[in-house]
Amino acid sequence: MTALLEVSDLTVRFGGVTALDGVSFEVRSGQVCALIGPNGAGKTTAFNAISRLVRPRGGEIRFAGESLLAHRASDLSKLGIARTFQNLALWPGLSVLDNVMVGLHAEGHVGFGRAPLGLPAYREDKKLKAKAYAALDYFGVADVAHQLCTGLPFGTLKRVELARAVVLRPRLLLLDEPASGLTHGEVRELGDVLRTVRDELDVTLLLVEHHMAFVMDLSDYVVALDFGRNLVSGRPAEIRTDSRLAEAYLGRSA
Ligand SMILES: Nc1ncnc2c1ncn2[C@@H]1O[C@H](COP(=O)(O)OP(=O)(O)O)[C@@H](O)[C@H]1O
Ligand SMILES: [Mg+2]
Repeated sequence: MTALLEVSDLTVRFGGVTALDGVSFEVRSGQVCALIGPNGAGKTTAFNAISRLVRPRGGEIRFAGESLLAHRASDLSKLGIARTFQNLALWPGLSVLDNVMVGLHAEGHVGFGRAPLGLPAYREDKKLKAKAYAALDYFGVADVAHQLCTGLPFGTLKRVELARAVVLRPRLLLLDEPASGLTHGEVRELGDVLRTVRDELDVTLLLVEHHMAFVMDLSDYVVALDFGRNLVSGRPAEIRTDSRLAEAYLGRSA
């Protein structure tokens, strides 16, 4: 199996704070990889560097063999990278269907952030609409397609956000704490949905996640960071019982 995403020697500084200090890991094609570690470990920073939202001081990020550092955040969907956000980034005043169509529209000529200006135009597009419906159906939320996002349960909105990310048929999907705020049952369902996304849609997943049981159950590979450095990595069975991981978490709360 080959690496779809290769992060090497990544260093990010915010003023005097070194958030990432030479972090390296790779995400293999067709796998679910989780980035874990205590608060402040640098997980979000790594995610944001990959998403091109923060500029690394050093190191390299390659996607399908090509440097991402030469690209802007707005190029990512065209390259085949999609992401979701920890605090849902849906337009609450738009319908579920429109939210997904905005995602699809990012494939075209109007930038993601400006897409609502184009609403009437893409609403007419029957092909886009059919694709959006199919994605909602895939995630089991087609029945709320015409409802406004405002007022829908959080678990439903998480699925809508996934539909919007996956409708672009990305090769790599970045998920920022997908299990946070979900009920026990919803977390289990999410695990099933993400496995299906990986296996049926052939999407490679990189997630930042705090829910340890969820991570260990879902992931093919786990990368743990601490203080902006690589701590341990391996298959869940290999690192679950690693004393360095326990120390990193317990040491912090002591
Ligand atoms: N925008 C920022 N400005 C200054 N310091 C930051 C910024 N973002 C993160 N940091 C610092 O970088 C370190 C890593 O943070 P972060 O990536 O958010 O960790 P995690 O997501 O693992 O909790 C922390 O010390 C944090 O305070
Ligand atoms: Mg974080």
